[in-house]
Amino acid sequence: MHIDHIGIAVKDLESAIKTYETILNSPCSKRELVSSEKVETAFFNTGESKVELLGATEPDSVIAKYVEKKGEGLHHVAFEVKDIHAELDRLRGEGFTILNEQPKQGADNKLVAFIHPKDNNGVLVELCQTQP
Ligand code: CO
Repeated sequence: MHIDHIGIAVKDLESAIKTYETILNSPCSKRELVSSEKVETAFFNTGESKVELLGATEPDSVIAKYVEKKGEGLHHVAFEVKDIHAELDRLRGEGFTILNEQPKQGADNKLVAFIHPKDNNGVLVELCQTQP
C-alpha cells in the first residue's frame, strides 16, 4: 500500500485550485466531475501521491455538508490497494465499518470504498484500486 492521495474538502474549488497551484508551483493536472457524489475534483501530482481537492456541486452534496459542519480541511486519506474486494473482506473480518457495500466508481479511474473514521482514529480512510 502507498498513499495514493489526500482529499481536501474546499468551499470554493476555483480559488482553492489557484491556491494549490501557487503552493505546489505547478498546474492542476486534472479536473473531474463525480456526478454520483455531486462533487468536482481537482488533482495535483506530488510525486508518488496526489492532492485531491473536493468541491461540492450541489448544496446537498456530502462535501457541502462536511464543510458546513467541520469547515474546510483534510477530508480523507486514500491508500492504493491491488485488490480492493479482498482488502474490504479482510477489514470487515477485522471488525471495521465499511461505508460502501460494494466498491464504487470514484474519480481518477478508480474503484473506491471508505472506512468509517470512528475505526481509524478519526480519519476517513479511502481504499482505491486503479481499474484496468
Ligand atoms: Co479520494
